[in-house]
Amino acid sequence: MRALTVLGIETSCDETAAAVVRGAAPGPGEILSNIVFSQLEEHRPYGGVVPEIASRAHVEKIDAIIVEALSVAGVGLNDIDIVAATAGPGLIGGVMVGLTTAKALSLAAAKPLVAVNHLEAHALTARLTDGVAFPFLLLLISGGHCQLLGVADVGQYRLYGTTIDDAVGEAFDKTAKLLDLPYPGGPRIEVLARSGDAKRYALPRPLRGRDGADFSFSGLKTAVRQLVQTGSLDSADAAASFQAAIVDILIERTTVAMDMFRVDFPAARNPSLVVAGGVASNGAIRDALGNLAAYEGFQKKIPPPGLCTDNAAMVAWAGVENGQLGRFDSIGISPKARWPLAGAPPGGSIGATVKT
Ligand code: KG4
Ligand code: ZN
Repeated sequence: MRALTVLGIETSCDETAAAVVRGAAPGPGEILSNIVFSQLEEHRPYGGVVPEIASRAHVEKIDAIIVEALSVAGVGLNDIDIVAATAGPGLIGGVMVGLTTAKALSLAAAKPLVAVNHLEAHALTARLTDGVAFPFLLLLISGGHCQLLGVADVGQYRLYGTTIDDAVGEAFDKTAKLLDLPYPGGPRIEVLARSGDAKRYALPRPLRGRDGADFSFSGLKTAVRQLVQTGSLDSADAAASFQAAIVDILIERTTVAMDMFRVDFPAARNPSLVVAGGVASNGAIRDALGNLAAYEGFQKKIPPPGLCTDNAAMVAWAGVENGQLGRFDSIGISPKARWPLAGAPPGGSIGATVKT
């Protein structure tokens, strides 16, 4: 297939990002530029992302970030084949900023528009980086999501498990807050856990042994809160015990999903386990999933940390993949706060399609 050059725009949470990617399916693609402005400092005083602050910061930054992405890539708007932007799911005010900017560029430069599902962008990143073949098993672990998906093709996802309460990154962040660690707490817990005893506190593994591959983390967080209330907690031991519980939960649920994947795709030989999302930067989690993959006959593929967290290169790549299939969107498309990749399987078949 002909290589496409795509401008990608990402504004669904607290990163304002633009990137230019060139490539063709199945990848890998070439990242010509990847500019990410993190709003972390603006949200830090509030201990989490404040939607109104995020929207305003996106408005203030987006134009300069796009100019920089084009300039670093050494291309002009005329050299771009497609404009792609995250259209959801995410904080609606932020998504509106990026999508509206993309629509304006698409109209002004007469280039087709691809409205990208942010989760699909995370899902397809391993094709941008490694050219991973379909089908593959995806574990998406971020601040907003915790899902296990069978990825059959672009736009074809099978949901094996999702969280019934907190996302895994959220569990890290809330537990970190209980331990008086600054936001975002995930990386702080990882560092603190290195000097702690993971066996010191017995924490629950919610849903262990249950049918299906759903996740639950709120009981774990509550258990840490109760420990904190005893007043004699060792933070490093608590961080290590908490992280060990998370690793156990992720491993057990992923093992179940691997069985579900093998049933759905019996012909897949040595398929890939792709891990994406900010939590995939955690070393203990990466190592444990690597061991599991090797044991179960899967190839572990984890994009580098900068492409696991929110970025626009992944959005541009989703633009490449959809564009090559002729899946463009009209200027009238609306941003979506909620936009699941696939519904829960009612014993049904693969093929919940992203685009309607
Ligand atoms: O994918 P991401 O950048 O943003 C979205 O949520 O979409 O993920 C951010 C999340 C935060 O909850 C953060 O605490 C968590 O990823 N995180 C980590 C680590 N690095 C980031 N959690 C555990 N260990 C880490 N090293
Ligand atoms: Zn994300």
